[in-house]
Amino acid sequence: MNILVAGGAGYIGSHTCVALLEAGHTVIVADDLSQRKSGTLELVQRITGRKIIFHLVDVTDEAATEAVFAKYDLEGVIHFAGLKVVGESLTKPLAYYYNNLVSTMVLAKLCLKYGVERFVFSSSAAVYGANQIPFVESMPLLPATTPYGESKVMSERILADTAQAEPGWSVALLRYFNPVGAHESGLIGETPAGIPTNLMPYITQVAKGKLDKLQVFGDDYPTVDGTGVRDYIHVMDLAEGHVAAVEKLTPGVHVYNLGTGRGTSVLQLVRAFEEANGLRVPYEIGPRRLGDIPACYADTTKAQRDWGWTSKRTLADMCRDAWRFAR
Ligand code: UD1
Repeated sequence: MNILVAGGAGYIGSHTCVALLEAGHTVIVADDLSQRKSGTLELVQRITGRKIIFHLVDVTDEAATEAVFAKYDLEGVIHFAGLKVVGESLTKPLAYYYNNLVSTMVLAKLCLKYGVERFVFSSSAAVYGANQIPFVESMPLLPATTPYGESKVMSERILADTAQAEPGWSVALLRYFNPVGAHESGLIGETPAGIPTNLMPYITQVAKGKLDKLQVFGDDYPTVDGTGVRDYIHVMDLAEGHVAAVEKLTPGVHVYNLGTGRGTSVLQLVRAFEEANGLRVPYEIGPRRLGDIPACYADTTKAQRDWGWTSKRTLADMCRDAWRFAR
């Protein structure tokens, strides 16, 4: 299939390009490279030995995006283009709503105009709010705690309503849990700007000696050891979930969790990282972080039942691959 990957130079986008190329698809990337160095896509080509078609386009720019739709006979769109620093969305809400919603609407509008029937959207477990665990796709959503989370809820709504009004249009809303790790080659991975806010990139910087020690945000949660529990998923497993989605989509709206179904606490992840890589990660216990929920993990039954997709890589794989890339 000819697949347009909007935001294909980003962390999850670039790994998905690898998985799509390896599955034999033609990949056309539209990315403004605002979050990324251009070299990433060359590395994707090196890993796969296949070519990517690249357009330097901000997908909130309708005319520039339309030129890409007009040029290729697209069969599917995967939409990763958006802002994603959760904390930053509290200080720049308008930028988050504008980018994340306008990009969704421009891509959806052009899909309908050019008869592109498959749309895969990059959503987040953030849409569940502080629901009961495990999170199941059929749960009513609770208010998201940040403009970032709300922008995902709203994009889901826009796409679901549009698909309901447009028979034949297929939409997959993929709710990611916590993507970590990197491609096994060590060539592409996660490169947060400045001091990382997410746990795994913070751990790798402490391991490198760039940061002194990890602050564990709270050890008084009702969890196995008092620290926050999350469902960490290897970014290549997540990437393969997108290939399954784009290939198996049928008309209508389909919501899928992409997680492992297993919860891991902050301290369990620190120990797994130390064991997998044979090094120490100094840490200290600090106060809870505002807006954090105690625990979050996925019910993954649906993706397994409908697509036969399930995560394959272990926590040790995630830790080894994250470290190989960071090193
Ligand atoms: C965060 C976002 C979430 C987004 C996800 C995608 C917040 C509040 N939530 O999830 O909306 O979908 O990233 O990647 O930002 N921790 C520490 N010390 C640190 C960093 C994190 O103890 O320096 C803990 C956190 O308290 C949490 C766990 O590690 O328990 C994971 O944190 P993080 O990697 O930031 O992800 P989430 O908060 O789950």
